[in-house]
Amino acid sequence: MTSNHVDTRRVQLARLFNELWSVPPTVYTRAPGRVNLIGEHTDYNEGFVLPAAINRAAYVVARPRDDRQLRVYARQKDEHATIALDELHPDRFQGWPAYIAGMADFLGRAGHALVGADLLIDGDVPQGAGLSSSAALEVAVGATLLALAGHAIDRVQLAQVGQQTEHTYIHVMSGIMDQLISAQGKANHALLIDCRDYSTQPLPLRSDVQIVVCNSNVKRELAQSGYNQRRAECDEAVRLLRSALPDIRTLRDVTPEQLDQHKDLLPPIILKRARHVVTENARVLQSADALKRGDIQRFGKLMNEAHASYRDDFEASLKQIEVLVSAAQSLPGVYGSRLTGGGWGGCTVSLVANQAVEQFCSTVGAIYEHEVGHKADIYVCTAADGVEVTPFAEA
Ligand code: GLA
Repeated sequence: MTSNHVDTRRVQLARLFNELWSVPPTVYTRAPGRVNLIGEHTDYNEGFVLPAAINRAAYVVARPRDDRQLRVYARQKDEHATIALDELHPDRFQGWPAYIAGMADFLGRAGHALVGADLLIDGDVPQGAGLSSSAALEVAVGATLLALAGHAIDRVQLAQVGQQTEHTYIHVMSGIMDQLISAQGKANHALLIDCRDYSTQPLPLRSDVQIVVCNSNVKRELAQSGYNQRRAECDEAVRLLRSALPDIRTLRDVTPEQLDQHKDLLPPIILKRARHVVTENARVLQSADALKRGDIQRFGKLMNEAHASYRDDFEASLKQIEVLVSAAQSLPGVYGSRLTGGGWGGCTVSLVANQAVEQFCSTVGAIYEHEVGHKADIYVCTAADGVEVTPFAEA
């Protein structure tokens, strides 16, 4: 997206804000969605992930109020909500207002005194597609509330507050990847994140390769239970492995060799889940090395291996996703392709040589529609910067 586009959105949202509340907004916030290039379900196992923030985001325009109310208009839903800062509790909120209430609640608990505000919320991250529209909303709202109250933004803390919101207000036991990349993304880079200490390393993406995201348009409604179940299976693997490896804290601490050596301790299903996580961690580190060397062939091969592991050992794929991945992997100019995000629907991510992108979009789109019976949406993405709050000069 060009800066021209961003400016247009900013102006339009400011105008709408003015129409709604008859005063101009004072700040504009953009927090991106993300695509994960490799490293699935490793984050809550304190392992490694390699996502990129994308040029689709949640947007907020806002202005402080004199009272302790958050008055919010969600443009995509065309709905209003009022949230009292002094009456925050997870039981009181459902649907999209829960994200806002959760952020306000946990920022407050982290010691940030907040002020009331009028907020207009918009976004262009497809929802329920595995591109982290929720994390983008959390990070955008959190950064806005901090800015309006005059607090500096600690990006790691902002991500943690987003994760607490997911756990407590949304009841999804998500890891930290989505919020961290939305807070800390870097344009034209992927970010290697160590989810144990939250250290990050930006790795440049090659300009002759595009990130192409294919949305299966299979919503991830069933995914929440699957996600939480996988998380429990990983914890169970650690519990059982501790009889032989007492010092391990999470699957991050187990090498592929150790898992193989102690595989008899685990029931077959738990072994498969653990094998995905343990080998995936190794693949993320290898793929980061490949990216540093600019070796996109190797990177793509690791993406394909990661997909096979996600499908066979973690059992998080679906037949519609397989259509997208096999169509992509068979095309010339495609380095790698895999299911991205939490699993059971959503999107695939493919790395495609610039000159092959057009052919990719038409061929994969046609195969998908023919075999599945509905259309996929295809987005050619660029890697974007993390959350940004800018004041309106005129305010
Ligand atoms: C979802 C979660 C993340 C991560 C991925 C799987 O996106 O929010 O924390 O666990 O699934 O890699």
